[in-house]
Amino acid sequence: MPSQSLPDVRPVAAWPGVIEHYRARIHIAHTVPPVTLLEGNTPLIPAPRLASALGGGFELYLKYEAANPTGSFKDRGMTTAMTQAVADGAQAVICASTGNTAASAAAYAARAGLKCVVLVPDGKIAAGKLAGALSYGAQVIAIAGNFDDGLRMVRQASERAPIALVNSINPARLQGQKTAAFEICDVLGDAPDWLCLPVGNAGNITSYWLGFGEYFDDGLASIRPRLLGAQAAGAAPIVLGRIVEHPETIATAIRIGNPARWREATTALDESGGRITAVSDEEILSAYRLVARTEGVFCEPSSAAGLAGLAKGLREGWLDVRRQRVVCVLTGHGLKDPEAAIKGNAPPITIEPRIEALLEAIG
Ligand code: F0G
Repeated sequence: MPSQSLPDVRPVAAWPGVIEHYRARIHIAHTVPPVTLLEGNTPLIPAPRLASALGGGFELYLKYEAANPTGSFKDRGMTTAMTQAVADGAQAVICASTGNTAASAAAYAARAGLKCVVLVPDGKIAAGKLAGALSYGAQVIAIAGNFDDGLRMVRQASERAPIALVNSINPARLQGQKTAAFEICDVLGDAPDWLCLPVGNAGNITSYWLGFGEYFDDGLASIRPRLLGAQAAGAAPIVLGRIVEHPETIATAIRIGNPARWREATTALDESGGRITAVSDEEILSAYRLVARTEGVFCEPSSAAGLAGLAKGLREGWLDVRRQRVVCVLTGHGLKDPEAAIKGNAPPITIEPRIEALLEAIG
């Protein structure tokens, strides 16, 4: 049933979702009730043990976007994109995805009563994301190509058929995703000095810069952060300054060779006085394990790329964050990719069901 025919039921929870909470700042059509799963309001977790593991002398926070309803930051942009699609009278939506966008689009389309089609690279999407997209009832189409091929195809499809595109080239997506910057400022009382995050299709870095810019312009933040973007070394077009035809990395969420918002990302990096760096798969996995072990915060490998960039900059000495406030965005949940987690750790040992065996095992 299309949501137009549903009664205008407002959420009763204390947190009403990002559109309601930041309504005046969200520039989309407000003619229909928000399509929401009460996304946003995610924890900004202080990470002192992690900061000291990285050398100490600075304040570190983790913006834990895994706490969104489908387990990634994409929900912020999907509430706005789907609400706009409903306002526009769409009956169906489509996107290309490395997995998280697919799961989020599928959930919000279900919520809105719209048909959803997602294109994913065959065999290169983490199990938890596929499980989500399928469970929320999307039509999942695997393509024998990468994300960039998929994005080209869905752009063409939305031009030829009456189906709304919900990738981050859709400006409504940025309107929702910029709210993460607002939340960080609302909690800290100002913008941080540095914001570190993974960069794939570059929609998120563009959105953060938009959000921090709006708070700064309106006097709600006294500074704008410097941005530290991180791409996987095998999929680092912005770092290299050229399209990567065959991107490869274990960080499948950011396995992208030709980001749609490349120009906006470059502008954001330049304006912020920040930097973009390439991190190897080993550096990503090492950051991924470190944050889980030092702080009890489990994110998917790609999510740890920003943290890996921070660690690399500190190690190599080109980044100085002493006495500064640093926020690392952890974009998606560790449970999205159970295979990576299990492969990256020693397997559990098996013992006889006897107390002596247990005592021996734990030393
Ligand atoms: N982290 C995760 C977990 C992601 O899923 C993505 C992008 C990014 C970071 C990068 O964000 O593209 O805005 O620069 N995932 C998209 C998807 C491409 O299809 O789920 P970006």
